[in-house]
Amino acid sequence: MSNDKLLDIKNLTVQYRGDVRTTTAVDDVSFGIAEGEIFGLAGESGCGKSTIANTILRLLKYPAEVAGGSIMFNGRDVLALNGEELRQFRWREVAMVFQSAMNSLNPVLTIGEQMRDIFTAHLPVTKREADARCGELLEMVQIDQGRLKSFPHQLSGGMRQRVVIAMAVALRPRMLILDEPTTALDVVVQQEIMAEIKTLQAELGFSVLFITHDMSLMVELSHQMAVMYSGRIVEQGPASTLHHRAAHLYTRALMNAFPPITGERVELRGLGEGVRLRRIDNLAPVGPNHWAAPISDEDRMSLAQQSTGAEGGQQ
Ligand SMILES: Nc1ncnc2c1ncn2[C@@H]1O[C@H](COP(=O)(O)OP(=O)(O)OP(=O)(O)O)[C@@H](O)[C@H]1O
Ligand SMILES: [Mg+2]
Repeated sequence: MSNDKLLDIKNLTVQYRGDVRTTTAVDDVSFGIAEGEIFGLAGESGCGKSTIANTILRLLKYPAEVAGGSIMFNGRDVLALNGEELRQFRWREVAMVFQSAMNSLNPVLTIGEQMRDIFTAHLPVTKREADARCGELLEMVQIDQGRLKSFPHQLSGGMRQRVVIAMAVALRPRMLILDEPTTALDVVVQQEIMAEIKTLQAELGFSVLFITHDMSLMVELSHQMAVMYSGRIVEQGPASTLHHRAAHLYTRALMNAFPPITGERVELRGLGEGVRLRRIDNLAPVGPNHWAAPISDEDRMSLAQQSTGAEGGQQ
């Protein structure tokens, strides 16, 4: 959690204010992403992943509000960016592939028309130049240039998702946020898309904030990762460490809830109704570059009964 991060989030708290009650969707969250690093953010539905992504891009709308903390990107205070600065920041510095993005393509415009808009809106290029770049971009994600003339419904789900990813990297952003990029796709296409993202990342060198609840995918792709629960980070460290030596019972339960993509067949254990935490304390170091929230005695007792598969060594 040093200062040389491209993205540096400190003590971020985001709330949705309601008439009756206020939900703290993100609660005192800190993490950083280095240049060229793939950072995975995992956690079950509703734990606050998309809220973090939306906050980074300053897309929060009422009743959501940043209640505390800071977001620095390349040394700049993201929460203080004004209108024109924000316009430059989005797409050029940080681009996002939204949850179910492939369904967000405009059905009445061709792929080419939609892609062209990105270039003409942000760069001083002619229509012809923009079209040439769109063709190159499509080829980069293994789609034939001829498809620029297609409408979204004429492409498969996987192709539409590739188009959306191509659009996100169009202006060569320094960071790409992928919010559940493959959730709606079948496993084979999912694998192809992730391979594509890996290739693009190696080629273009951008950093990635990869959001998913699929731990197998996350471990495959990420260098570092954090596991969230109810707005809090419960564990953070190198993806391989969390995979093999998770310190928190919740991380282990989440790891066990997904089949590994490669390697031996293992018996799966679901998350279970019982893996509920009542209190999540601040992270404490548990190893090199590895932090986990200590489990309260109260939670430890109820969790121990539920997660029968988790071995000892719990801190
Ligand atoms: N507009 C809103 N108004 C009130 N509460 C909201 C709103 N949007 C999200 N929340 C709440 O904020 C919390 C975090 O939601 P968020 O969408 O960030 O979760 P997530 O981790 O992305 O979940 P998923 O995996 O389902 O996408 C949830 O408890 C949700 O109910
Ligand atoms: Mg989400």
